[in-house]
Amino acid sequence: MATGVKRIALLGATGSIGRQALEIVDAHADLEICALASGSQPLDELAAQRGVDHVQVGGDLTGLLDASAPDLVLNAVVGFAGVGATLWALEHGVALALANKESLVAAGELAVDAWKRGGGLLLPVDSEHSALHQCLDGRDRETVDSLVLTASGGPFRNRSLADLESVSVDEALAHPTWSMGPKITVDSATLANKGLELIEAHFLFDLPYDRIEVVVHPSSVVHGLVRFRDGAALAHVGHPDMRVPISYALTYPERRATSVAGLDLAAPLSLEFEPPDLERFPLLQLAREAGRKGGTYPCAFNAANEVAVASFLDRRIGFPEIRAIVEDALAQVDGAPASDLADLVEADADARRLAAGRTASV
Ligand SMILES: NC(=O)c1ccc[n+]([C@@H]2O[C@H](COP(=O)([O-])OP(=O)(O)OC[C@H]3O[C@@H](n4cnc5c(N)ncnc54)[C@H](OP(=O)(O)O)[C@@H]3O)[C@@H](O)[C@H]2O)c1
Repeated sequence: MATGVKRIALLGATGSIGRQALEIVDAHADLEICALASGSQPLDELAAQRGVDHVQVGGDLTGLLDASAPDLVLNAVVGFAGVGATLWALEHGVALALANKESLVAAGELAVDAWKRGGGLLLPVDSEHSALHQCLDGRDRETVDSLVLTASGGPFRNRSLADLESVSVDEALAHPTWSMGPKITVDSATLANKGLELIEAHFLFDLPYDRIEVVVHPSSVVHGLVRFRDGAALAHVGHPDMRVPISYALTYPERRATSVAGLDLAAPLSLEFEPPDLERFPLLQLAREAGRKGGTYPCAFNAANEVAVASFLDRRIGFPEIRAIVEDALAQVDGAPASDLADLVEADADARRLAAGRTASV
């Protein structure tokens, strides 16, 4: 290994985040991919192009991480499948660039405990959390009043409750400001994504739920905002482009240059904010409640949502059923805290079973 080269395990290499991460890595001679993983797409060609020996398609990713011994893990897997890799990096004190929010939501306290034991860096890739990380950097936590997560509002921001009964998959996949993988795009349409992000922010920044606000900000120019006790607030602004937070996480603390243009302040800029409508987008509130209850409720929220979103994408259920399936599963699980990964996997499986049963009956 050449001195000064950062060796990166890129998990979820074939996805939206994974592909953009490869672009960032290619722009820097001292960033190198040492391991690649995907869920089902073959990686032979990509591995051959880059001379990567450690490659895995599906399955438990911890063996790949043990074998490749990365300096940084970029977890860009979608869904609970990323949980083992997140816990591995946190436990081993290996820097973790985390796009896979579902793993932090599901693992919660287990992940935080592993992070404390491992003592490594946890760098959020989610643009909102990257923004908050930057606004908080080096500031005394005592001075922080609250965090504000911004949501674009998704493609259905202006649709009535009645309209939402019949929206199609294609409409849900047409996100107004971000271009992303299908699961997170549907989560953005239901606002479940913001619910997952709320729980993610709670664990990342160690603040209670009543000090984390969500506001709808349609232009997605302000990515996050920290309110301080003196009445001031710091915001992070820029074009909605994931290459910025990916680059921030991969090159932290250097903040290297990217090809993303800065904001043109001579052009019209919309800085409108509005409260989220919890009646039309109840998954945000369900996530907040699951987060407040703690234990494995967030894990169950995530699992049921994954099942429901997959069913919606397969056109087996309609848009409103996503909420109904998650609500139902949450009402039936016991939410008991997980003491280890096996407990967590069981809680995830239980919620998936409940959600799948309900899906089948729709
Ligand atoms: N896209 C964004 O702009 C964005 C923004 C913020 C946060 N995120 C988060 O980043 C994560 C990835 O999102 P995405 O939009 O990039 O999703 P995506 O385009 O659907 O890509 C998902 C990636 O995960 C891989 N994968 C799926 N199951 C796997 C498994 N069991 N083991 C290993 N790899 C697996 C997929 O491989 P295959 O191609 O083989 O299926 C693919 O490479 C999600 O947690 C999302 O919430 C994304």
